[in-house]
Amino acid sequence: MPSAFGIDIGGSGIKGAPVDLETGELAAERLRIPTPEKSTPDAVAEVCAQIVREFGITEETPIGIAFPAPIRHGVVAFIANLHQSWKGVNFTEVMSKHIGRPVTAVNDADAAGYAEVYYGAAKGVEGTVIVTTLGTGIGSAIVVDGHLLPNTELGHLEIDGYDAEKRAAASVRTAEDLSFEKWGKRLTRYYGHVNMLFSPDLFVIGGGVSKNFDKFIGYIDVDAAFVPAQLRNQAGIVGAARLAADGHH
Ligand code: BGC
Repeated sequence: MPSAFGIDIGGSGIKGAPVDLETGELAAERLRIPTPEKSTPDAVAEVCAQIVREFGITEETPIGIAFPAPIRHGVVAFIANLHQSWKGVNFTEVMSKHIGRPVTAVNDADAAGYAEVYYGAAKGVEGTVIVTTLGTGIGSAIVVDGHLLPNTELGHLEIDGYDAEKRAAASVRTAEDLSFEKWGKRLTRYYGHVNMLFSPDLFVIGGGVSKNFDKFIGYIDVDAAFVPAQLRNQAGIVGAARLAADGHH
């Protein structure tokens, strides 16, 4: 069974598991360790190293790590929801130092998007697919006929004078205690704008909240096709592992 190892770094937890590349399923139960409160590069990299050690994976197993920021040739361009000291850091270098071997770095939404196209909700869909993850922030992945355009940051579109994720992320719904109907209005504004800009063939809505898709999709009044993500919160792990195996840079 061809396999790779995936790690997904999030605002509240860091999760890792080996992935069966044939099926896109986790090959063992994932391990989750809370994100260190002071989420500096060294603290986060040490948790990743701990996760890799726990699984005792072989030397040849590719390791992919999904991170909530754009990563250009290994370097973190800016960081919205983790410690600000990540800005400008060479992510792959820090990780490789702690883990003791090379890793592949990838934006978390790109990882999730790639996984959904490869194994999940957008499998076999032709044309432009936009995968958005609604969580602490909003992440985006644009995949055209199976090809990923990396590092899009559509969660930071400025809409009505706001950074979009500050209005429409799932964490904002919880923090402001919004009903699905009220939150749906914000999603309508958000997806309406993205739809106008890109006219995608399909939107995939990911993030933990996608399990409640039926509770809010009726409130998104946008003339486009929407489906919930299938890999839910495993998508980051699976996509990072897949991209590592595919030699993504
Ligand atoms: C970050 C993105 C990330 C998204 C989801 C945004 O704030 O800028 O890079 O994909 O959150 O974690």
